[in-house]
Amino acid sequence: MLSSIKARIIVFYLAILLVTLSIMGIILYLGLSRVVYSAVDSTLLSRAKALATLVREDGGEAEFNFSDDVMWEYNSPKSKHFFQIRLPDGTTLEKSASLGKRELPYKSGNSSIEYRNIRLDDEPARQINFPIRREGEKKRGERVIVVQCAEEIDERIEMLDTFGLVLAGSILFIMIISASGGFLIARKAMQPVKAISETINRISETNLSERIAEENIPEELKGIASSFNRVFAGLEGAFNRQRQFVADASHELKTPLAVILTQAEVSLRRERRPDEYKTALAGIADAAKMMSLIIEKLLQLARLHSDKFSLRREKTPLNEILETSLKLLRPLADRKGIVVHMPEENTYSVYGDREALQEAFVNIIENAIRYNVPGGRITISLKKEGGFIVAKIADTGVGIPKEDLGKVFDRFYRVDKSRSRESGGIGLGLSIVREIVTLHGGRIEIKSRINEGSVVSVYLPEADMDNRFMGSMESS
Ligand SMILES: Nc1ncnc2c1ncn2[C@@H]1O[C@H](COP(=O)(O)OP(=O)(O)OP(=O)(O)O)[C@@H](O)[C@H]1O
Ligand SMILES: [Mg+2]
Repeated sequence: MLSSIKARIIVFYLAILLVTLSIMGIILYLGLSRVVYSAVDSTLLSRAKALATLVREDGGEAEFNFSDDVMWEYNSPKSKHFFQIRLPDGTTLEKSASLGKRELPYKSGNSSIEYRNIRLDDEPARQINFPIRREGEKKRGERVIVVQCAEEIDERIEMLDTFGLVLAGSILFIMIISASGGFLIARKAMQPVKAISETINRISETNLSERIAEENIPEELKGIASSFNRVFAGLEGAFNRQRQFVADASHELKTPLAVILTQAEVSLRRERRPDEYKTALAGIADAAKMMSLIIEKLLQLARLHSDKFSLRREKTPLNEILETSLKLLRPLADRKGIVVHMPEENTYSVYGDREALQEAFVNIIENAIRYNVPGGRITISLKKEGGFIVAKIADTGVGIPKEDLGKVFDRFYRVDKSRSRESGGIGLGLSIVREIVTLHGGRIEIKSRINEGSVVSVYLPEADMDNRFMGSMESS
């Protein structure tokens, strides 16, 4: 029922207000009735005392001396003041004319002053029982003459009731005003939340660029708004990259496909000699090989990206990985007359997936060979640095222009498209490398000088102190 924040705020706020106002009302009511009763009680006491002075006791006989000064108030049958004087045995010595046939309630044996609320002919009244004590009469339980005095208090009760009613009415009024005020305040306070949710609802695949306006949002919601905006920016970026990726992939596949189609069509246009068919088929095979390479790399990237992909975690010596990669690429290096220098060093191990790491280093060293000058040199080194093992692959190749350094990890990015294509580059190698290194909790850096060469540094968490990394791998 209280699912909305607005309702919760209002109900909670009203409950607190009701409790506070009720307590205040009760205190006020009790305070006022105390004042009223103590005023009545003090008049009753002085009246009783005045009447007591008129009682004479003489050797066990008691008598009441009339005094007109005192009595005029009690004589009229309509008077609201009454008295009755009781002898120690409870019988009446005297009572006021205002009482008529009525009697004031009496309980024998009470030897102290006592106030009580009574009803006289169904009218509320207040009564005092005032025992007359003479000098020396201090024995407990001894019966004495009691002056009873009473006064009708209907007007005062009425006043108290009216006060109670006004109080209750005021509380109700305050509650209604507060509820409406609270409703308005809550609605105003929730307005930005509504605006945020409307914006979020508007944002869809087609307008991912819309953002929540953060200027007019209250301080408390700024965090949520900026988090949402960050998420949307991330989503938009990912979505655009994905779109770009699909476009690039299609474009890359189109070129070899076009080669295959033209070669086939041209060859089929008329009867050819066997060697012409051979050349055409060789061209087609090359293009198909290229396509299959592209698809293979795309699949590899997709696999690395998928949630299901999990790295194996085994202690892997990086020296071995580098040596095997080199062995695989040796023919390519030899063809270009490139000398690879890899000094024998200590064994450095990382926790990781042997196959994936192999793939990464093959890509890096392949680049170092591919973009090297004929007869160039490659130096590979390993060292420890702040919990990481750093593998550096330095070449004496063509280098990468400064403005391209940040882009070489982008998919399908090639610095010099024509030259790269000549050497068979697709532009996916470094994307795959970065993916693998990041999955291992490491990072990759590239430094380069044009016509001097490039240095690629791969940082991977060291195996021996690598509990942190193992944790992160389990969660990936
Ligand atoms: N060591 C290097 N020296 C000079 N340029 C490099 C080097 N490594 C990479 N590059 C540049 O960065 C681009 C991206 O490299 P990447 O390995 O991602 O793709 P590729 O080598 O073109 O193709 P492949 O997907 O077959 O690896 C290359 O095309 C090249 O221009
Ligand atoms: Mg490459």
